[in-house]
Amino acid sequence: SLVSLRQLLDHAAENNYGLPAFNVNNMEQVWAIMEGADKLNAPVIMQASAGARKYAGEPFLRHQILAALEAYPHIPVVMHQDHGQSPAVCMGAIRSGFSSVMMDGSLMEDGKTVASFDYNVDVTRKVVELSHSIGVSVEGELGVLGSLETMQGDKEDGHGAEGKMTMEQLLTDPDQAADFVKATQCDALAIAIGTSHGAYKFTKKPTGDILAIWRIKEIHARIPNTHLVMHGSSSVPQELLAEIREFGGDMKETYGVPVEEIQEAIKHGVRKINIDTDIRLAMTGAIRRFFVENPSKFDPREYLKPAREAAKKVCEARFEAFGCAGQA
Ligand code: G3H
Ligand code: 13P
Ligand code: NA
Ligand code: ZN
Repeated sequence: SLVSLRQLLDHAAENNYGLPAFNVNNMEQVWAIMEGADKLNAPVIMQASAGARKYAGEPFLRHQILAALEAYPHIPVVMHQDHGQSPAVCMGAIRSGFSSVMMDGSLMEDGKTVASFDYNVDVTRKVVELSHSIGVSVEGELGVLGSLETMQGDKEDGHGAEGKMTMEQLLTDPDQAADFVKATQCDALAIAIGTSHGAYKFTKKPTGDILAIWRIKEIHARIPNTHLVMHGSSSVPQELLAEIREFGGDMKETYGVPVEEIQEAIKHGVRKINIDTDIRLAMTGAIRRFFVENPSKFDPREYLKPAREAAKKVCEARFEAFGCAGQA
């Protein structure tokens, strides 16, 4: 059944677990998440970016999630708008039936220019007022996602800050976070701790100087009742990179956010962990393998089946690791 983000995150906080929030664009991804959740009896957060709505089209995206609700009526599902770049985008998602929206006011509507604190508070508070009046939850974001190795904002997908960033921008400030939550009344807060979107997050297995789990602890100590959200939290498993390379893909050396670091973060208030890239890697590896092993096949069902199975495996592993198995 459709539930709000607030309901799920409150339950997660009471029971000390975290929830992966998986991005969806197509039926195979929705299937993988729901099958994994069904097997482990885990609650689900499915999120769609503006790019997902553009790819599938609003009706196809909405009906895929509605299909999941119908096929798995016993699983609580949050339908969440990922990175809403304006109040208008959030309102569009609510009209589509989403039970939760992210108002990402860390950047201006162009998705490139770093926004002021006051602008961020203004747009987020506005979305909270409208959303809460109809039972929809809101995630805000304070800080700019980007690499502490290069001091660059997100650059892999279309959105992300341009130019050189400062340490102050790339690490969410605990006092500012407290002011932000008080002023906006958002249900969950996405924070910046050195992660970025996509496969190329770190040039080595991250240590505390480039992945600031310690900053999460400081923020949680300051606002213990706020649900924290980690973006750019794919783990980029080396075995998935190896599979893609083995079957003809070109992936440079790269490292993601280790699962054990996420587990540590969950002990300090992180309740929602955003994952897109790991599912992309799993599906790509499986499809590349299939084509190399079966050069004469051309029925999409035959190669999408191993792809969705590989995605399901990633989902199951994260449900287990974050402690949400058995919590549906
Ligand atoms: O925000 C990043 C998510 O991975 C969604 O990516 O904008 O390519 O759909 P996307
Ligand atoms: P990844 O690119 O690490 O999967 O992050 C996804 C995300 O943060 C979506 O909002
Ligand atoms: Na989000
Ligand atoms: Zn994100």
